[in-house]
Amino acid sequence: MKNEHKIFSIGLVLAMVIGAVALSGCTQEKTNKIIVGTSSDFAPFEYKAANQTIIGFDIDLIKKVLTDQGYIVEVQDIGFDSLIPALQTGKIDVIAAAMSITDARKLEVDFSAPYYDANQAVLVKVGANVTVKTIEDLKNYSVGAQTGTTGWSWVNDTLVATGKLSNDKFRSYDLYTDAVADLIIGPSRVGAIVIDSPVAKAFEKNGEVKIVLNITTNESYGFAVKKGNTELATKISTGLTAVMGSTYWEELIEKYFTTT
Ligand code: ARG
Repeated sequence: MKNEHKIFSIGLVLAMVIGAVALSGCTQEKTNKIIVGTSSDFAPFEYKAANQTIIGFDIDLIKKVLTDQGYIVEVQDIGFDSLIPALQTGKIDVIAAAMSITDARKLEVDFSAPYYDANQAVLVKVGANVTVKTIEDLKNYSVGAQTGTTGWSWVNDTLVATGKLSNDKFRSYDLYTDAVADLIIGPSRVGAIVIDSPVAKAFEKNGEVKIVLNITTNESYGFAVKKGNTELATKISTGLTAVMGSTYWEELIEKYFTTT
């Protein structure tokens, strides 16, 4: 009876040791995996390929930077406006979404070094009866932007808050792809869209929309991490410096920004 009990105890201890080893194995794997959140409505930075996989300049870039440092990367598609909350609650580890580094966002997240510069642009439908030569002309149309973006804030601060555009003419979209789809339907839906200049240029290629105004905002994109995660932010910035000085960077620019 006593011996049986002993054997049982040894067996239990052994099971616990095996279990602990197996668990630590899992944790190890988890710390090596980085979940990157994006909003795939923003070609050429992040968009869906025909087979629905998320591709783009930002995606290739962050994958390169992180895999070079031994991480396994998983990409999750989340609405732009939900990215910062997702980062704060630990649902994702990094935001790669052509996110402009702003003072307001710096209060909520930490940014890597900048990797791409942009301004804002105004898109209208080709052939629509919409004349926008100055910022003031926008008051005659409904104006759209993606919720939570710097473009949205620009419309809100420069046009709506100053009384130049009535609030009922301000259209907020969850996705820029939906905003452009509405623009193409016509001015009854939305007359003009304010959007980052490199993305406006990409949308222009479909021949249905065109840039009529450039707005200088001097923005720079950075990858965002949870506030206080200095270790990851530094790793990304260091990796970025290396990649930006390599031929991979030229290839990436060529792949996503060459106009043919
Ligand atoms: N650069 C702008 C911003 O930071 C727009 C980014 C929108 N990105 C996207 N993937 N939809 O607000």
